[in-house]
Amino acid sequence: MSSPAVAYARKNHPRFLSELKELLRVQSISTLPEHKADCRRAAEMLAAELKRIGMENVRLIETEGNPLVYADWLHTAGKPTVLCYGHYDVQPTDPDEEWLTPPFEPTERDGNLYARGSADDKGQVWAHVKALESLLAAGGALPLNVRVLLEGDEEVGGEGIARFVASKPAELKSDFALVSDTELFAPGLPTLCVGLRGMIYTELEVRGAKTDLHSGMYGGAAPNPFFALVEILAKLKDENGHILIPGFYDGIIPPSPEELAAWKSLPFDEEHYRITEVGSRELVGEAGYSVLERTWARPTLEVHGMPGGFTGAGAKTVIPAKALAKVSMRLVPGMTTAKAFALYKGYVEKIVPAGVEVEARLIHSGEPCLIPVNNPYIQAATRALREVWGKETVFIRSGGSIPIVGDFDRHLGVPSVMMGFGLPDDNIHAPNEKFHLKNFELGIESLIRFLEEAGR
Ligand code: BES
Ligand code: MN
Ligand code: MN
Repeated sequence: MSSPAVAYARKNHPRFLSELKELLRVQSISTLPEHKADCRRAAEMLAAELKRIGMENVRLIETEGNPLVYADWLHTAGKPTVLCYGHYDVQPTDPDEEWLTPPFEPTERDGNLYARGSADDKGQVWAHVKALESLLAAGGALPLNVRVLLEGDEEVGGEGIARFVASKPAELKSDFALVSDTELFAPGLPTLCVGLRGMIYTELEVRGAKTDLHSGMYGGAAPNPFFALVEILAKLKDENGHILIPGFYDGIIPPSPEELAAWKSLPFDEEHYRITEVGSRELVGEAGYSVLERTWARPTLEVHGMPGGFTGAGAKTVIPAKALAKVSMRLVPGMTTAKAFALYKGYVEKIVPAGVEVEARLIHSGEPCLIPVNNPYIQAATRALREVWGKETVFIRSGGSIPIVGDFDRHLGVPSVMMGFGLPDDNIHAPNEKFHLKNFELGIESLIRFLEEAGR
């Protein structure tokens, strides 16, 4: 590779890595209010670094949530403008006892960097910053116009950035977005993600008696909200993975025959996936759909937890006054968050058992998205990836959600190139999250070469 920027990145890699560790030590957990100050500190570190490497107009943009980080460099008139997006917030770390090394003490082990946020998404955000640094340091200029927009609320639905993007500010005027918050389909296999599921994250609260009750004195006469909740949950999805909310599947746009054929030729071994990634006796879900279809192109409904009642050690005989369930649904193209939530809410209110009341609350949501691939940016990306990884790029979808990607398309008319460098076994959102060090390195090189190709 003859790119001076790539040579610069290789030479400076040890420093890039130790800087990333600094960022990973910051506990920027967006869903926990006690980490608000940590989120701001991560934003400030990123802003300071963007300034140091020569980006301009660097600033924090306040939202109701955590601040956005903005920067730009717009000195190549006539070249396209890229909007580089990532998120500096991370998921909580529990269960903490499962981590082999502490989540906020980044540790290298067998070619991986272990830490919360290493792959999702601080490692990939840092790869963007280091690609920009390499280009600026080696060439004194960028090969195209660059805007950077980072958020600190992606893991909690991204309301703040959504509002900012919907206001179509002049500082976001761009030709395409570059998003590194996804994965390679397999180790060493260059991958572009072209579709994401949407989601609605909800809470179901069921209330029964006016207070907690002695379960001996009142059991048999007082309604138990946990049982009512379980009855409701059991009516949301059947044993075949089919969601029972009337009308839920209406309007779904299935993948094209060409896309389905391409998925069939991906190197996917269902047994290997079951054993190494899932680790269960069997895989479950809708009959007649492959695992990739089930996780990429079909809606699902999951229960994440049921807080409430007595969960301490030992026994306490109580009928709780209320019960809660955290329930989310993943949505696919053709569905909207507004319609899915309305159908769900109407249905649970209709099936609520006698003696209790139920409230369905929307916590956050994001629309599904599908990215057009016939544009010069995707082509530039495959050229760069071929050069760095020595292989043809595969196009995949992902079952995960990145709410703002759909908004870039809808509000800014900007297509996204989702070039991510995580691996399927990176344990994102789980204990022992890691980022494969080789992917950090080749990720930076891929980003450099992509920006060079996109600005050619
Ligand atoms: N980076 C993930 C989404 C992702 C994961 C894309 C794996 C592709 C492959 C993102 O940070 C994430 O976890 N999003 C949340 C969004 C939600 C809270 C709105 C998700 O998918 O649960
Ligand atoms: Mn992410
Ligand atoms: Mn995530």
